[in-house]
Amino acid sequence: MENLELIDYKKDDLSEILYNLKSYTENKKAVILTYGCQMNFHDSEKISWLLEQMDFKIIEDINEADLIILNTCSIRKSAEDKVYGKLGELKHLKKLKNSLKVCVCGCMMQRQESRDIVKEKFENVDIIFGTNNIYKFPQLLLKVYKDNEKVIDIEENYTNDDNNLGANRLYNFKSFVNIMYGCNNFCTYCIVPYTRGREKSRRPKEILNEIRDLAAHGTKEVTLLGQNVNSYGKNLDEKYTFTDLLKMINEVDGIERIRFMTSHPKDFSDELIYAFRDLDKLSNFLHLPVQAGSSKILKLMNRHYTKEQYLEKIYKIKEIVPDIALSTDIMVGFPGETEEDFLETIDLCKKVEYDSSFTFIYSMREGTIAANKEQIDEAIKHQRFNRLLDLLYPIQLRKNKAEIGKVKKVLVEDVSKTNKEALSGRTEEFKLVNFKGSGDLIGKIIPLKITDANTFSLTGEII
Ligand code: 5AD
Ligand code: SF4
Repeated sequence: MENLELIDYKKDDLSEILYNLKSYTENKKAVILTYGCQMNFHDSEKISWLLEQMDFKIIEDINEADLIILNTCSIRKSAEDKVYGKLGELKHLKKLKNSLKVCVCGCMMQRQESRDIVKEKFENVDIIFGTNNIYKFPQLLLKVYKDNEKVIDIEENYTNDDNNLGANRLYNFKSFVNIMYGCNNFCTYCIVPYTRGREKSRRPKEILNEIRDLAAHGTKEVTLLGQNVNSYGKNLDEKYTFTDLLKMINEVDGIERIRFMTSHPKDFSDELIYAFRDLDKLSNFLHLPVQAGSSKILKLMNRHYTKEQYLEKIYKIKEIVPDIALSTDIMVGFPGETEEDFLETIDLCKKVEYDSSFTFIYSMREGTIAANKEQIDEAIKHQRFNRLLDLLYPIQLRKNKAEIGKVKKVLVEDVSKTNKEALSGRTEEFKLVNFKGSGDLIGKIIPLKITDANTFSLTGEII
């Protein structure tokens, strides 16, 4: 099927589609299964909003569902394998319930290879769309129901960023907001530039309108999303930098905390370091993915900075914002990584002393430059991974223990995942705190005294 025409949600097109869909979707139930990062999580919030516009009831049990949506991730092979496994399971369900519709969207579907596998092996899939055309979902579904045929609709790049798609957010007090889409960096291990297309910034006006509206509805914390927020504004007619945007968001009444994900060290500016010092709402937490400690490997990864340049930025921010918490993404086993290169990563981690980190074993992604290089032995990769964790976790524990006795402001988020009797929230530094308290505190920012700490969380008490 050819790609459908673009629809404009500011006009009446959506209501017309919804009207036509009504007889098919009334009283139907839908499940969304989300894989991957915050970007995908937020895309699922938009999909959920669209489903509600279509009168679907969102449920969790796939056995009860009339429509199942898999919002997929391609960052590592394991993420793709999970999706194929789930689609296999759903074959059985579709046999039991002929009217069940299955939709696959997200990063995997932006890749021809993965689309082909889904098309060939899973004839139980009815709708395929990608990351750049979520707004077309109702149109596609109407086609499936009305014409009883399968549809595939993919757009390479994000084109329709002003369509004001709503989002069905999980919490009303903390919200994700896209500030840009896509990525131009082409790190040699990474599939994202192929799945999310070229970098495109949203206009500040659109972003501010969304954030003002969120604040008016109770949002206290916004997390700005983009693959490389430091290059925000490059494609805009008017010249705005990421720090210009932060300054404007800092002025929005009702917003108390600003976070962002993810920044790239090559574009990380002094201006942003001073923003951490000067903007009262910008949280004291910086996630600055290093990926590797060896300058040789960083060059092979096409990262555009050396170990020394990265450390220089870290030392500078530690000097200007001494209480900042630091986090990173690190990978072991990239093609060409020798024992000496790995020891450079260890050395860098000792010097930075991260408060938290996301650690990965390199996974070969077909279509990327690094996939054509000689790969490292799996056993060596795993051994390096464990040695890295053996270094990172004790540092993390020590840094968490240093919080004991302090009073920290915590945004109370939910009932604790580890103890149903307790609540949990996050400090400005993104540290998880569990504490005893009543449910009406959820959504509030309260002071807590830190009484204990382990590697992954703190314990606090109300004062
Ligand atoms: N293998 C392992 N980890 C990867 N990442 C990106 N691509 C790969 C890959 N092929 C990691 C990077 C990135 C994070 C989101 O995922 O560390 O920052
Ligand atoms: Fe992938 Fe690099 Fe872009 Fe991050 S900056 S999404 S690692 S290509």
